[in-house]
Amino acid sequence: MKHLIGIEDFTKEEINELIEVSKDIIRHKEKYSEKCKGKILATLFFEPSTRTRLSFESAMLSLGGNVLGFSSTDSSSITKGETLADTIKVVSGYSDIIAMRHPKEGAPLVASMNSKVPIINAGDGGHNHPTQTLLDLLTISKKRNSLDNFTIGLCGDLKFGRTVHSLITALSNYDNVKFVLISPEELKIPDYLKEDIINRKNIDYIETEDLEKNINKLDVLYMTRVQKERFLNEEDYVRLKDVYILNNKKLEKAKKDLCILHPLPRVNEISPEIDNDPRACYFEQAENGKYMRMAIILKLLEENK
Ligand code: NCD
Repeated sequence: MKHLIGIEDFTKEEINELIEVSKDIIRHKEKYSEKCKGKILATLFFEPSTRTRLSFESAMLSLGGNVLGFSSTDSSSITKGETLADTIKVVSGYSDIIAMRHPKEGAPLVASMNSKVPIINAGDGGHNHPTQTLLDLLTISKKRNSLDNFTIGLCGDLKFGRTVHSLITALSNYDNVKFVLISPEELKIPDYLKEDIINRKNIDYIETEDLEKNINKLDVLYMTRVQKERFLNEEDYVRLKDVYILNNKKLEKAKKDLCILHPLPRVNEISPEIDNDPRACYFEQAENGKYMRMAIILKLLEENK
């Protein structure tokens, strides 16, 4: 059975096809309104979410299907001590596809071993977030018409930010994508990513703590939130949380066609004063999530027929 646990579960060709289908959905929404009639999506969120869960649910409803699930563990039998494996064995009998988010790295993989239906990883701890990456790629592709030949700055919490891990993995398969990795020393990307992806594929990158000095080089700037929930020590979080705040002043040196992305939610890292700047693409990015998740649901249901 085909699941979406990590972004590497899809080939570059499959990713490009998902982007094309998403663009077609945006152009011809009506064509897709009954594609999942009679199908049920379960959204099992063991961790908070606004965009990911609601865009998955909106995606399934827009495909003519139905949704069920929970948005926190308080209302499920997890509080009684049920294991993830048992929850999945049961819910996969009630649904045709499951999107799940879990605080533990690897939980969706465990789920996939216990499921009769496809599992979609909607974020596992500080590890991966492949559906976010697919909507990020859709947004970059809409803005630049290509996923090759550009420089992307990834800024903020590169250590715990799962969106960044999946995005770097995906972009490493495109041609001439350069990375500017901007973070405080303590929040640099994990070594495994540097070894297994960046170094192994000989990718052009720099690591820096300085956003202002490097902003002029960037075609895409991917801002991230410092992941409070992954810190063991509140003091460290407080010290690091406002290291980067993107505002009009910092944007003065940026390219006129810079594309500013953020998976959201933002805390302080993007000042609302730039929301109306044509370079601010993060709300469009969030909306693209719905269309990309429609394409993902369609693909996984089709492949697992
Ligand atoms: C991200 C996540 O959950 O990893 N949010 C999202 O899915 N759009 C980013 C974050 O929480 O900072």
